[in-house]
Amino acid sequence: MDEYGYLIRCAIDMLAFSYAPYSHFKVGAALLAKNGKVYGGCNIENVAFSPTNCAERTAFFRAISEGVREFDAIAVVGGKDGVLTEYSPPCGVCRQVMQEFCNPSEFKIILAVSEKDYKVYTLSELLPLSFDVEL
Ligand code: THU
Repeated sequence: MDEYGYLIRCAIDMLAFSYAPYSHFKVGAALLAKNGKVYGGCNIENVAFSPTNCAERTAFFRAISEGVREFDAIAVVGGKDGVLTEYSPPCGVCRQVMQEFCNPSEFKIILAVSEKDYKVYTLSELLPLSFDVEL
């Protein structure tokens, strides 16, 4: 297994917990903290639609709510009924949440369809010219 195989496996395992009765599009994420811990996340849908939480944000919010704020990478997988056929890139809202806590030129986003088939991007590649100002 190569560098990201374990993290991708964790993301795939999270598909089992996805709650997606409306879209049937299951997403799993695994967030690697700098302390070595991995925080899993899945999408959690809602009949009112807008309360739906993406897998990536579920993983981030789990970590942050435990006091962990430094991260190296996140693996993301997703597909209709949990069948992985293509990459499932994070939505804009999730990218902005990543921007809040991660160094954009260093934080890695691993899009995978299997442990062996994946692509690695930095956050700055996926969220160029981001809103990140002094308030
Ligand atoms: N979804 C995620 O979990 N992550 C993303 O970055 C994009 C979309 C979920 C939300 C919804 O449950 C389903 O995918 C279809 O949009």
